[in-house]
Amino acid sequence: MNALARASKQALQTAARGFASGAYPDRKVAVLGAAGGIGQPLSLLMKLSPYVSELALYDIAGTPGVAADVSHINSKAAVKGYAGEDQLGEALKGADVVIIPAGVPRKPGMTRDDLFKINAGIVKALVEACGKHCPKALLNIISNPVNSTVPIAAETLKRLGVYDEKRVLGVTTLDVVRAKTFYAEKAGLDVSKVDVPVVGGHAGVTILPLFSQAVPGANKLSDADIDALTKRTQDGGTEVVQAKAGKGSATLSMAYAGALFADACLRGLNGDPDVVECTYVASNITEVPFFSSKVKLGKNGVEQVYGLGELNDYEKAGLKAMMPELRASIEKGISFAKESQ
Ligand code: NAD
Ligand code: LMR
Repeated sequence: MNALARASKQALQTAARGFASGAYPDRKVAVLGAAGGIGQPLSLLMKLSPYVSELALYDIAGTPGVAADVSHINSKAAVKGYAGEDQLGEALKGADVVIIPAGVPRKPGMTRDDLFKINAGIVKALVEACGKHCPKALLNIISNPVNSTVPIAAETLKRLGVYDEKRVLGVTTLDVVRAKTFYAEKAGLDVSKVDVPVVGGHAGVTILPLFSQAVPGANKLSDADIDALTKRTQDGGTEVVQAKAGKGSATLSMAYAGALFADACLRGLNGDPDVVECTYVASNITEVPFFSSKVKLGKNGVEQVYGLGELNDYEKAGLKAMMPELRASIEKGISFAKESQ
């Protein structure tokens, strides 16, 4: 085998996360918004997941092409494309996990909240369909503003009488991915061995990386270093939006983060006893009803929401500072879902 063949075999094995296919229970995953900037690479990564046996790719258009393309990859999952609202129910039927990256992305100068006007209605309609066709599925909500779209999803399912707070999860994994990358780079650590919890929400100051709890610790970082790392993590999304200069927001790193998180949900469903991820869920560990923190994932989704652990003064101040914005975003989402019945 030549060097290139060896490298690509290695890459495929890495993508397949080192597991043999066929060793796990059958699981159906649906991606809603599968033809988009996140949706396409995320669909590719879920096709490579050893935990997926059926992959339903739904979008308003374009999914037959994406599905045909992805389906040629020689991995376990059977792939089918669904386009247009009349095929949504079929895409969702029997799904164990539904990943939702449907909606518009930011352009430079916009906040995530500026997306509310369009994305709130998209998420509400898609979650309504989930409530009707796969009420037991774990929903992984990527569409922004996550701080509001998760409360919208919860309220929508409540209205349908099928809400289970263990099954509605906002995807904040990209914040953790960024915090790990920036921290390892600054501290000169092996990034594959680094962990950094990120708590709060998914927008600006509501994103709070807890570097005091980073593993391994890096005592040599100064307060100024930690402040800069915190701000870079909070502004990570904006950094990408600006670099893409009008062509959208993070798609590739988000697809990676979304696949990591969906795999974690599937591992939990399969009974893996040790799956812990930061995710934005219904929570009573702070004064607001939705919050991201470390969560144990199990056979029914959220098994335990962990507390914040010990925070230093800098982190305590960050927690206090995020509350007005986080609370307002949550209330905005709940009001929207209630008023738009
Ligand atoms: P995109 O415009 O490239 O793709 C969005 C896709 O959604 C399109 O294919 C579009 O057709 C589809 N869509 C729109 N309405 C739909 C509907 N009703 N049903 C099904 N599909 C529909 O955007 P993108 O870059 O993939 O970003 C998608 C969303 O993800 C944005 O809201 C963005 O802000 C968000 N995002 C979140 C995170 C996070 O960390 N949670 C990270 C990056 C992006
Ligand atoms: C991100 O964090 O990259 C996403 O929320 C997209 C954005 O608008 O920043």
